[in-house]
Amino acid sequence: MSTDPLKPRGIARAFANIALVKYWGKRDSALNLPRTGSLSLTLDPLATFTEVTVDPELTEDTLELNGVPADAKTTARVSGFVDLLRSSVVPTARAASGEGPRVRVRSRNTFPTAAGLASSASSFAALTLATAQAFGHDLDTATLSLLARRGSGSAARSIFGGFAEMSPGTRDDGADAVARPLFDPDHWDLSVVIGVIQKGPKKVGSTLGMDHTVATSPYFEPWADSVPPDLAAARAAIEARDFELLTHVAERSCLRMHASAIAADPGVIYWRGVTIDAVHAVREWRDGGLPVFFTIDAGPNIKVFCPSAHAAEVSQRLLDIPGIDDTLLCRPGGGTVRVDTFEP
Ligand code: PMV
Repeated sequence: MSTDPLKPRGIARAFANIALVKYWGKRDSALNLPRTGSLSLTLDPLATFTEVTVDPELTEDTLELNGVPADAKTTARVSGFVDLLRSSVVPTARAASGEGPRVRVRSRNTFPTAAGLASSASSFAALTLATAQAFGHDLDTATLSLLARRGSGSAARSIFGGFAEMSPGTRDDGADAVARPLFDPDHWDLSVVIGVIQKGPKKVGSTLGMDHTVATSPYFEPWADSVPPDLAAARAAIEARDFELLTHVAERSCLRMHASAIAADPGVIYWRGVTIDAVHAVREWRDGGLPVFFTIDAGPNIKVFCPSAHAAEVSQRLLDIPGIDDTLLCRPGGGTVRVDTFEP
């Protein structure tokens, strides 16, 4: 359904991002505060477009995802998030109990939703900016990142283009748990080729997976301890454009994150057999002289980094692996921006 152009409205576009040093585990679930920092690259063209229209005629918020009404749980999550910005119009508690203007939200992704392709990052980054705009707030990027974090930890990083680093902060109220830009998208001519192994929604969402890991995995604390040195090493590797060093750090961070989840009780295993086949293939290609490394998030898909000159070759090689049906070619993307139209 199209929206009334006379009603206050915000439209934003955000790109997904892929973590080179992973975020896995919260120090506070209510405020969505990460236990550790993380570092990512924002990915063009994996975009979410979100339109938020303030509509006094509505009695509750509505959400349309990729052209169809969202389920009650997803709508409630988005509505709870909108309350954070609605609370500048009425106090938070009253906003949460139904006071203040309701909104109509429409969102669409240009890539498969909820398959470990970080759609929550681009979704909440776009929702943050579009909601702020609809309510008439002109917020700086740090504030947008802080708010986006409340929706999804990784979304805080998608506010920025290029390489971004999330700080876990130390304050109880989370005021310093915010991302910051590290290097612009054109700092390094890298590509990320995603091998799509499963397009359907994943079984264990990232929040459930990481909360369960924190609660039950004997490897969670060692994992958390390993993150600060990885952040320092990744920062240095990116600054120096040292692909070999970044290979080492990124694969290590990915495998240790998954090791902590696999060691939970019961273990959380996001990989499929094809994922492992692809991991071995990437290492064999590297041994054969192709500069590549892999990373994997809370799903079975494999993401392969390479200098852009090798992206077509990497895509072809991934497609030759039985069980990989599709690839998505990504380049460093820009930050979250306002756009004029929601329609494709
Ligand atoms: O932002 P969330 O809550 O969807 O968590 C993201 C977790 C990982 O994608 C696995 C790692 C990361 O840092 O993006």
